[in-house]
Amino acid sequence: MLVTSEALPLAKTGGLGDAVSGLTRALRDAHVDATIFMPAYESAMDAACDLVQVAELPGLIGGDATVWAGWVADSEIPVLLLRNDDLYMRPGNPYLDERGKEFPDNGIRFAALAQATKRISVADTPIRVPHVVHAHDWHAALAPLYLHAAGAKRPKTVLTIHNLAFQGLFPMRLADDLGIPHAYRGSDGAEFWGNLSFMKAGLRYADRLTTVSASYAREILTPQFGHGLDGVLRERAHELHAIPNGIDTEVWDPGSDPFLPEHFTVLDMRGKVRNKLEMQRAFGLPTDPEAPLLAMGSRLTSQKMADLAVEVFPSLLAAHPRLQIAVLGCGEPAIEESMRALARRHPRHVGVHIGYDEARGHLLHAGADMLLHGSRFEPFGLTPIYSMRYGTVPIASRVGGLADSIVGLPADPEAEVGTATGILFDGDTTADMLAAVERALETFAQPQRWSAMQKNGMTTHFGWEASAAQYVELYRMLAPVAPVGAPMVAPRPEAASAPVAATMRKRA
Ligand code: ADP
Ligand code: GLC
Repeated sequence: MLVTSEALPLAKTGGLGDAVSGLTRALRDAHVDATIFMPAYESAMDAACDLVQVAELPGLIGGDATVWAGWVADSEIPVLLLRNDDLYMRPGNPYLDERGKEFPDNGIRFAALAQATKRISVADTPIRVPHVVHAHDWHAALAPLYLHAAGAKRPKTVLTIHNLAFQGLFPMRLADDLGIPHAYRGSDGAEFWGNLSFMKAGLRYADRLTTVSASYAREILTPQFGHGLDGVLRERAHELHAIPNGIDTEVWDPGSDPFLPEHFTVLDMRGKVRNKLEMQRAFGLPTDPEAPLLAMGSRLTSQKMADLAVEVFPSLLAAHPRLQIAVLGCGEPAIEESMRALARRHPRHVGVHIGYDEARGHLLHAGADMLLHGSRFEPFGLTPIYSMRYGTVPIASRVGGLADSIVGLPADPEAEVGTATGILFDGDTTADMLAAVERALETFAQPQRWSAMQKNGMTTHFGWEASAAQYVELYRMLAPVAPVGAPMVAPRPEAASAPVAATMRKRA
């Protein structure tokens, strides 16, 4: 049972949503009965089908709740939704209200998810008990604590760290309401500088920890990247596994992506230019197939060096009169405003779309020539991989998953492109970022070298299969004698007779 706050298309604010649903699908393809358990947000209720109520959870934290079982629409992915409309049916996104303010009761909202996980896992509901509870990020990270406190007869737990910067910190006085036993409230438990830390609870009490790239797994053991939790992680380093994410190669395929005006493949790249023209139009830029088009598509936060990009863009535009820049994102209001101001000042060269827009995200990866993706830290980093799939060369920081998944162009401008798929840079000064984009623009002016990098990226395999196999191995280690039983979510009536055929249909 994968416990999460996000899973595409039920709810998504970032890479967590892609990662959880991508993994679940891959696990199911590997014949694991993987089921997603998440809050019944309005978007989740809308994107699920064949929902039936399967359990009542009276007296749950935050109020009486129910659990609904169903399927992610148009997929073979089963889902359990925790329903408490007061907690989860709200305008905004999973964490913020419409004005971008955090919901004041997020501690209650996600503790309820964790406590429901525990109750399902100790057979307190008619739902079949999972063999392994796999919690994702802080939103689910209290589940290992509750299960640890529940005693010996419980499923084993895994916590995957997608981003250590978000920890779920709440005043310790909430511990009573959340039913956190006193023995779990100390600094050797879930306490973090006087607060209650959901993430730390997970780091302490999950049977195994994983994170989403080998480099990030090493980095978070250091004070520079550990966000104050490196000490806790070092104590558990031998139980911390690095399992990289994959991407959903069906959703992100330039040869069939329904969001693109024209498809293309590595063997026939002609269609890419049409995407570029369409993207220029969509961002209000003059259509020009030759102008270098640099995209940025991510949360506009300091993690993503969006503050630095704002400073670097004017110098780039001054030095490169044909350069076009397109930005898609939302995040810190000050950065959003600076991006808008840039677009106002350079209307023919900078196009900015503030907001979250899945369709535009696909077009951006397909239409751009290069993707600027600076990161002060990056657990995995899905967007540069999407860009590589679409022949858009990433310019990215040499940190975390980016350092693992992008092969950097050699610094020597005379050196062969070799296996390079992008441009990696160190540091976080304007000079560092500027120099990296300059290198990209120089290489872009050399069509053969550029095209070699595009092709290298497009032919690298980033599918989920190998990573899913590593999770399966981990689950096997934790639940070696798991009996095969009924699935956690009953098959859909029409699919009941032919689940295998349905899977084969998808593969075909
Ligand atoms: P993170 O999870 O740290 O934000 P990732 O690169 O791993 O970074 O994942 C980000 C995901 O969110 C990608 O699927 C990306 O396409 C998507 N995304 C981010 N911002 C936007 C946006 N403004 N509109 C559409 N998709 C976005
Ligand atoms: C987080 C990280 C990102 C990662 C994603 C999925 O949001 O910031 O690097 O790709 O989770 O694991």
